Amino acid sequence: MCLDEVRSKPHERLSAHLSDDLDAVNRLIRERMQSEHAPRIPEVTAHLVEAGGKRIRPLLTLAAARLCGYDGEMHRLLAATVEFIHTATLLHDDVVDESEQRRGRPTANLLWDNQSSVLVGDYLFAKAFLLMVETGSIRILEILSRAAATIAEGEVLQLSVARDLSTGEDVYSKVIRGKTAALFEAATEVGGVVAGAPEEQVAGLAGYGDALGMAFQVVDDLLDWGGTSGEMGKNTGDDFRECKITLPVIRAVARADADERAFWERTIGKGRQEDGDLEIARGLLVRHGALAETRQVALDYAARAKAALAPLPAGELRDMLSDLADFVVARIS
Ligand code: IPE
Ligand code: IPE
Ligand code: MG
Ligand code: MG
Repeated sequence: MCLDEVRSKPHERLSAHLSDDLDAVNRLIRERMQSEHAPRIPEVTAHLVEAGGKRIRPLLTLAAARLCGYDGEMHRLLAATVEFIHTATLLHDDVVDESEQRRGRPTANLLWDNQSSVLVGDYLFAKAFLLMVETGSIRILEILSRAAATIAEGEVLQLSVARDLSTGEDVYSKVIRGKTAALFEAATEVGGVVAGAPEEQVAGLAGYGDALGMAFQVVDDLLDWGGTSGEMGKNTGDDFRECKITLPVIRAVARADADERAFWERTIGKGRQEDGDLEIARGLLVRHGALAETRQVALDYAARAKAALAPLPAGELRDMLSDLADFVVARIS
């Protein structure tokens, strides 16, 4: 990667800045994904872990702790915990969504089977809890346990409102706050807690993580309509095919005339889709300004994330976290 690119991508800059920490986290991940009795576990996990992934969540934990002046090593256990929880949810999510591509590779459910993905995901969840127990902090256990429960809650809520065209923006926000923002928030918050930071700073970090996670998922939902599978490392158009009600759809349905309403009822309400429907749907989103508005919502969350950093010590790390918020939305700018 050329120097300019390293400069332009804040998560690469964070990785470089925190390289000792991140190397230690990657070693921990490899060490703890092993299994004495079931070789399928490291096989499936390595397939996903070795494919890379941006490691945004563990970087958030590492950066938050260092930003608050932490000079110990406990934050590495927490960063590995957070990436394990993330990896477990990806394994489960790809089963639920019947996805075929993840991190530019075929999904584990495709290469092995649903059973392996579910059970290896369960194993990684349990190992995540073992890792955080090593910190000995009940407060940290509570924050991360709650996040794990909230992720599952968000995924189940999303499942139960799929195809339901009466779903409003309040429910959409609950879904994405649960399935995505909760882990971003917990990742940054535990970084502050492990550092023993003042409560005002811990709250600032949590607020930053929440808003960053919200921006991240709104962008993901927007790119599902407009990005290419090459840049995403996963298929696009999946949300429509899965009849998921994301923000662009909510806005377009709210402005639909009778014919358009019938189109949405058939394709998403009943899930009866034909060739060319995805393009028609995309056209409706553009016509009603739903994609442009969704983009603005993501930009607003990114601005909120940056503002939340105000109580944190100024300096290089805070700047990188601030740039990360811009970077998350730069994909849609
Ligand atoms: C993917 O998260 C899941 C979502 C919340 C959209 P990332 O885009 O952070 O996934 P990796 O870890 O970099 O592959
Ligand atoms: C991402 O959900 C959140 C979790 C994995 C819990 P999505 O289903 O929207 O994300 P992708 O598109 O599979 O990454
Ligand atoms: Mg998915
Ligand atoms: Mg999903």
